[in-house]
Order: sequence, then structure tokens, then C-alpha cells
Amino acid sequence: MIPACPLVSLPRGEALRLDVDPPIAVFHTDDGEIYAIDDTCTHQDASLADGWLEGCEIECPLHASRFDLRTGEVDAPPAKRPVRTHRVVVEDDVVYVVPSDAPPNLPPGLTLKGRP
Ligand code: FES
Repeated sequence: MIPACPLVSLPRGEALRLDVDPPIAVFHTDDGEIYAIDDTCTHQDASLADGWLEGCEIECPLHASRFDLRTGEVDAPPAKRPVRTHRVVVEDDVVYVVPSDAPPNLPPGLTLKGRP
């Protein structure tokens, strides 16, 4: 588990980016749910943590594709592939992320550091 932050430092409607490889975005929705997905849009190299959070969806700040935080599915072009979702655990008022084992859907031209 990756410790993300104390719960109090992630207010509702806010997001934070974890600088892991690839980066992970953690969102606290207005409804009080916490979700974690890959931070990088699958269309191009944009940070979804910088996007617009509405309900359980995040809109990419670059070309406005929207990703469902619960499933990672994209429901508006130009992005076509989903982002990975990660499990979130809140323990003793600290937010943790359990990274997915699935391979990430990185946008064209991006690779994991240290890998071809
Ligand atoms: S970079 Fe996200 S939709 Fe283009």
C-alpha cells in the first residue's frame, strides 16, 4: 500500500497526484467517496488530477475526454482506452492506495521509466 495523505488534507472536490511510476491521481468526490486512477490520460500526456471533477467523473484538462473514476472507462473522445483503477483504503484517517497489477494504458510515446 502506498500512503497517499492524511484524509483531512484531501477535501471533497479535490485531487492529488502521487509521484509514482506511472503517477496515480487520488480524488475525493463531493459525495465523500475516494477513488484512485492512473493520473495520465490515455490520449496524450495530461494529468487527470488537473482536470475537472464532476460526480464520479474526471474531465481531462487537455481535450475533455471523461473518465469514470469507479471503472476507469472513458465515455467521451478523443481518448479511447480506459485508465487503470486502484483500490483505496482509509485507515486511521490516512488514505492509502493499493496499486493495480494490470499493465497501464499509457498514451502513445510514453513509457514507464527504465523500460523501453
Ligand atoms: S490528453 Fe486527455 S483527452 Fe487528450
